[in-house]
Amino acid sequence: MKVAVVGATGMVGEVMLKVLAERNFPITELLLVASERSVGKKLKYKGVEHTVIGLSDAVAAKPDVAIFSAGGDTSTEWAPKFAAVGTTVVDNSSAWRMDPTKKLIVPEINANELTAEDKIIANPNCSTIQMVMALAPLHNKYKMKRVVVSTYQSVSGTGVKAVQQLENEIAGIKGEMAYPYPIGRNALPHCDVFLENGYTKEEMKLAQEPQKIFNDRTFSVSATAVRIPTAGGHSESVNVEFLNDFDLNEVRQLLNNTPGVTVQDNPDTNTYPMPIYAHDKDEVFVGRIRRDETQRNTLNMWIVADNLRKGAATNAVQIAEYLVENKLV
Ligand SMILES: NC(=O)c1ccc[n+]([C@@H]2O[C@H](COP(=O)([O-])OP(=O)(O)OC[C@H]3O[C@@H](n4cnc5c(N)ncnc54)[C@H](OP(=O)(O)O)[C@@H]3O)[C@@H](O)[C@H]2O)c1
Repeated sequence: MKVAVVGATGMVGEVMLKVLAERNFPITELLLVASERSVGKKLKYKGVEHTVIGLSDAVAAKPDVAIFSAGGDTSTEWAPKFAAVGTTVVDNSSAWRMDPTKKLIVPEINANELTAEDKIIANPNCSTIQMVMALAPLHNKYKMKRVVVSTYQSVSGTGVKAVQQLENEIAGIKGEMAYPYPIGRNALPHCDVFLENGYTKEEMKLAQEPQKIFNDRTFSVSATAVRIPTAGGHSESVNVEFLNDFDLNEVRQLLNNTPGVTVQDNPDTNTYPMPIYAHDKDEVFVGRIRRDETQRNTLNMWIVADNLRKGAATNAVQIAEYLVENKLV
């Protein structure tokens, strides 16, 4: 299995290499790919040094699988070039997610849609992945009508420049700004770019991607996405109205029985999910599970996950594992 990691020098790329190694993905040849700026740079995988190469050389090597985390423009231009030489691309950017000819996959939910014909497969947005992981078992049982989500997103979700901005602010150093304002001691109700309807692109991803993943347009999602100065993972306050009534103990049990989801919910012991504990973990953590007392059939919960793991690298590697296990590559 010849595997290319495109964007290997980035925030997600670094975690991708860690996850591939941890899960012992069956790699016979590894190509580490980044922009021309990084060509020649050395990176280690399982203790062995690899030299970073450019995109043209990577396409020429015809890898079996290419996992892209290099931004939307790179994916738009280069994923089709890899697909044309027979490579299956798993893409972390937003370039292909809403393309009706491409699948949007969270393996625990809809990997069974994948076929050998899928040459470009989209990984959902990090905030979407953790939300749908917790909503899936509840939607199956009680049928969602409407979701209202507010996010508290980590600076690592914006990439290396944003983490550097926060570190510079903490150290009192003036440096390059990834955001239009300081992020330390602040909250920016602004993730990704603003659109004509007044929402940000991140908010519209949260609104649209779940319908595609569940292949169901009968529910709607309204989102507010906020960047906060955390580094360990994204948090989400989720209010979900169902068509059918639920029992809170059953909700906890359904979530507890969902692979990849861990319930941390005990007000008596101050037990609830937090980014510092979700950091470096693959699970999606759910807590503060309670009935919305202002409306029928409505639940509140707090969902936390490491955006670089299940929100990006782990989900992409799980897709690649599914392709290999089912002989689709
Ligand atoms: N951070 C997250 O939580 C998260 C979650 C899900 C998805 N994503 C997506 O993953 C992608 C990468 O995010 P990130 O946070 O890792 O960003 P990042 O830290 O800024 O890293 C960007 C990576 O892309 C490479 N790159 C940039 N322009 C390129 C070009 N023209 N050709 C080839 N490689 C190029 C960079 O290489 P150089 O080092 O050479 O510049 C670097 O390896 C984005 O599409 C993002 O939307 C991120």
